[in-house]
Amino acid sequence: MKSYQTFVEAAKTFAVDAARLANSSRKRHFSVSSKSSVNDMVTNVDKETETYLVERISREFPNDTIIAEEGGHRTGTSGISWVIDPIDGTTNFIYDFPSCTVSIGVQDNDTTVAGAVCDVMQGDIYWAGVGIGSFKNADPIHVRDGVLIENSLIGTGFGYSSARRIAQAEFLASIIGEIRDIRRTGAASLDLCYVAEGRLDGYYEVGLWPWDFTAAALIVTEAGGFVLGPKGTTPSGELTVAASTMELASFLRAKVVPHLPLADA
Ligand code: IPD
Ligand code: CA
Repeated sequence: MKSYQTFVEAAKTFAVDAARLANSSRKRHFSVSSKSSVNDMVTNVDKETETYLVERISREFPNDTIIAEEGGHRTGTSGISWVIDPIDGTTNFIYDFPSCTVSIGVQDNDTTVAGAVCDVMQGDIYWAGVGIGSFKNADPIHVRDGVLIENSLIGTGFGYSSARRIAQAEFLASIIGEIRDIRRTGAASLDLCYVAEGRLDGYYEVGLWPWDFTAAALIVTEAGGFVLGPKGTTPSGELTVAASTMELASFLRAKVVPHLPLADA
């Protein structure tokens, strides 16, 4: 198999350095504006962190493509793409609620080969390379073993439009009686890392973007978990499911799919 070690190391370093930069701005005054709705917020720290990453990747990997949430796109020629969320969990960042990350996935054409998710406030770096496993800082991580659906702790998230949130909350009411409980911590990439390390048993969300899930989906599968999309094993904006067992992932997907698209975004 081709070695992607260079990309694994670079994604880790970039995510850690960008998270330090964002964390250092946390207690200072920052400006907030809205995007798709009043609840879909962006700060100058999101933008500055993205600029830092785009400039650094452009310098060190000048032929690669960059796809970043706040618009920092660049088309390269190498077949390698960097998929970036400069701050996943912006609402939490604004409220100083400790769940937000810098998320960096690296794809070789359509295959994710490296992923790094750095928890901005705790400083932990979750990372994976295809075929080499998943790690939190220096330690290997693994999904929780043998969970039953009725004992499963499931993470999820809500989109930014009112219609979609209402549909998502109604769907949630329809499954909460069949599982142990629900967590909504507000950063999809970190929820997925929590599945990878056994803090959650499963996760599903409708309406994510590639920068929310690309890095962390690899971290889940390399930690022994299962990631599904609306049809096969490719997660998408339409649906992202992750779980510690295939049975739980299939259960969650089978429950959500008949309700898609869970209202318009
Ligand atoms: C959001 C978070 C949230 C999820 C939303 C995402 P953002 O990302 O990951 O947990 O529920 O769907 O959009 O906007 O903070 O980068
Ligand atoms: Ca973001």
